[in-house]
Amino acid sequence: MNKNFENVDISVDFGGIKLQSPFIVSSGPLTYAAEGMIKAHEMGAGAVVTKTIRIKRALNPVTHIAILNNDSLVNCEKWADSAPEVWFEREIPMAKKAGCVVIASVGHTLEEAEAIVAPAEAAGADFIELVSYTETDMLPMLEATIARVKIPIICKLSSNYPAWKDPVECARKCIEIGKAHNHKVMIAAIDSIGPVLSVDVYNPGPKLGSDNGYSWMSGGAIRPVSMRINYEIMKMDRDIISYGIGGVTKAEDALEYLMVGTTGVGICSILIIKGMEYLNKVVLELKKKMSELGYSNIAELRGAAIDGISSKTADEPTVGEQENDVESDAKLQFTFKEEICIKCNKCVNICSYDARTLKFPIMKVDRDLCRNCGACSSVCPTRALTSEVVRKFTNTDELQNYVGYFS
Ligand SMILES: Cc1cc2nc3c(=O)[nH]c(=O)nc-3n(C[C@H](O)[C@H](O)[C@H](O)COP(=O)(O)O)c2cc1C
Ligand code: SF4
Ligand code: SF4
Repeated sequence: MNKNFENVDISVDFGGIKLQSPFIVSSGPLTYAAEGMIKAHEMGAGAVVTKTIRIKRALNPVTHIAILNNDSLVNCEKWADSAPEVWFEREIPMAKKAGCVVIASVGHTLEEAEAIVAPAEAAGADFIELVSYTETDMLPMLEATIARVKIPIICKLSSNYPAWKDPVECARKCIEIGKAHNHKVMIAAIDSIGPVLSVDVYNPGPKLGSDNGYSWMSGGAIRPVSMRINYEIMKMDRDIISYGIGGVTKAEDALEYLMVGTTGVGICSILIIKGMEYLNKVVLELKKKMSELGYSNIAELRGAAIDGISSKTADEPTVGEQENDVESDAKLQFTFKEEICIKCNKCVNICSYDARTLKFPIMKVDRDLCRNCGACSSVCPTRALTSEVVRKFTNTDELQNYVGYFS
């Protein structure tokens, strides 16, 4: 294990440009102007994505952001509220001058891509990121952008059905177009999820001020949706350069994305909720976590989970189906480290079957009641209680502690 985590190298090669970290502050209110982008860079962002630039500046509804819980929110914020010229003349050059790697987000139509991408490149953007309302708009926007710029192009793909039916297939088409034109094309997936509805119980009606009251959800809650899509994109072609967006709230979340093969990770909502300074903590936490896990650079862990997932993945979802399932002798073997247990009792309280008891320092599980669901070890905040799937118990601690409790 690398004891000095400061020596852990978290820089990444992102389409030929070196990023100081894999964290990319994705398009949103934090990158509304140069000031926000510069702050992100100073807090350790590898790159920053401008608020989406469109021909007409946005007039945002009042209100347009509501916090759901400690890591998720809903919003109906539109695109950039300043005109393209402001981005070309002030925001992009100023952010570049301060050392930011700048990704210019351009949306949402072919006409706008045609008008905006070349001046964004001329203003100093390192990448163009295309964002569109529908899957079918993305490909012509990409072709038009390839014809107008030399810098790499990122296609930001959404998972919002029915406008986006198959982001994985769309990723494949984007990469193919890039290859056909010998132009570097990269992928970002996904965007916020919706439309969704959040109701104000104090003033019955929608929480947010969009025309129909609907909004878009982002933050921790959407990470597993995005993880599945990013995994499928990277399993399809491990050479794709991409960054995974959706619900990155801490270092471990970033590792999840990197381990399914993305090169970078987007981060937005958690920084709105906790402030940009929090990014600096996550950057340090990533180094510590990598050191703890024995990694000294990102390349060593990138894609590390793909084989483990694909070896057990059926082509179709099998949730709810069990025609082919057989009774298994697999079970969870628990390890309890009393020295790092903070006696929070979360592991006990979460068990739906009342199978677990903790009379510190004795942790017990009643094997007649335990269904091997895994909730108790997954909720433990310190990893004092961990579990692994086994056919036969081998852990002598467990054998000693739990004598009389095995079924
Ligand atoms: C308030 C707000 C405004 C956003 N505005 C944009 C935008 O202008 N363009 C864009 O491509 N994505 C926009 N997004 C989406 C984010 O870039 C990101 O894809 C999404 O929030 C998921 O990441 P997260 O879970 O880390 O927040 C916005 C998100 C939020 C919360
Ligand atoms: S694995 Fe599930 S059933 Fe077993 S003790 Fe833990 S929470 Fe309870
Ligand atoms: S959840 Fe973890 S830290 Fe909390 S009591 Fe259980 S073992 Fe200890």
